[in-house]
Amino acid sequence: MKCPYCDHEDTKVIDSRPTEDGYEIRRRRECENCRRRFTTYEKVEEPVVMIIKRDGRREAFDRAKLKSGIVRACEKRPVSMDAIDSMVERIERKLNNLMEKEVKSGLVGEMVMEELKTIDQVAYIRFASVYLRFNDADNFAREVAKLQARDERPDEACSREDVYQIAIDGPGGAGKSTIAKLVAKKLGIDYIDTGAMYRSVGYKAMIYGIDPSDDQAMKSMLDGTDIDFDNGVVMLDGVDVSSKIRTQEVSAMASKVASLSAVRTKLVDMQRNIGMKKSVVMDGRDIGTNVFKDAKYKFFLTASPEERAKRRFDELKAKGEDVNYDEILEDIEERDYRDTHRELNPLRKAEDAVEVDTTSMNIEQVANTLMNKMGE
Ligand code: DC
Repeated sequence: MKCPYCDHEDTKVIDSRPTEDGYEIRRRRECENCRRRFTTYEKVEEPVVMIIKRDGRREAFDRAKLKSGIVRACEKRPVSMDAIDSMVERIERKLNNLMEKEVKSGLVGEMVMEELKTIDQVAYIRFASVYLRFNDADNFAREVAKLQARDERPDEACSREDVYQIAIDGPGGAGKSTIAKLVAKKLGIDYIDTGAMYRSVGYKAMIYGIDPSDDQAMKSMLDGTDIDFDNGVVMLDGVDVSSKIRTQEVSAMASKVASLSAVRTKLVDMQRNIGMKKSVVMDGRDIGTNVFKDAKYKFFLTASPEERAKRRFDELKAKGEDVNYDEILEDIEERDYRDTHRELNPLRKAEDAVEVDTTSMNIEQVANTLMNKMGE
């Protein structure tokens, strides 16, 4: 196609999509010589498949749009671009092979779900949950029920063999995070503090004045929440909250929001996403019993409530905070109760976890105990 400005023969296509009626392709081109851009409309012999939206609007099938939906569902999943391209190709071929040249948008959604289900079940559930909001809720519920009936945990369907997880669970103040950090360092893998994730959600609810019992408000807050770890720094919606989430007030709020199913579903999904991509030491309350039931090694660290209160007291005191031992002990006992008695994934030792009572051990002794167990 010649450049209309300088008549140069070489122009490259930078974007290409069918027009709404499907009879033309609109192409944005750039001239290799003068670099100016222009648009062409080229007739297509056969109209591309038309998609009928739920509101009755018609739109020509758009490959790029289909691909971007799948890419989003597969974000941070172990699915390659090549696999996504082949999915798109298969769906496009299926659509072109249909007798009708007009199809309902729901059918395309189902084709995507069908593909994703065999490629990556977490991506499938992600895609389906968006599809659910806009399309066929019953269909989605049926599919998820089928998956649950098979007791197939989505994340394991696509786990990589060279990636492993070490789960360290236990009550607050048992030394989990210190030990987990040390073990991760010794093994050269990442440490993920899941408590910091619940704390971040608790902190956000606190500063926004959201009542954890207000389901709707919590759900919409969660929809716009992003938590990330950057070299040990906890980023909440792009802001470093590492020190802000360590107060007594946030501890209490974290324990409250941790009993909500919307919170747990979101955070557990994030934790699995992180731990599927790279080897991790992950500490929390339900890592060995729920997040990674098949973790390579599982540990359950305990210590008496008095010892844990003393450790927390010393830690806060060292930071210059004005603290009271009895209040800390009371707080620890209250949190223990809430964490062990909540309905969803309560704190408990996994049957196959190794229990280590750290009451009279120092950090190095505990870390060595774990390293020795893993070496056995
Ligand atoms: O470990 P921590 O004190 O930072 O955890 C904060 C709260 O989050 C704690 O009350 C329990 C909850 N939590 C949880 O329910 N599940 C996890 N995997 C980690 C923490």
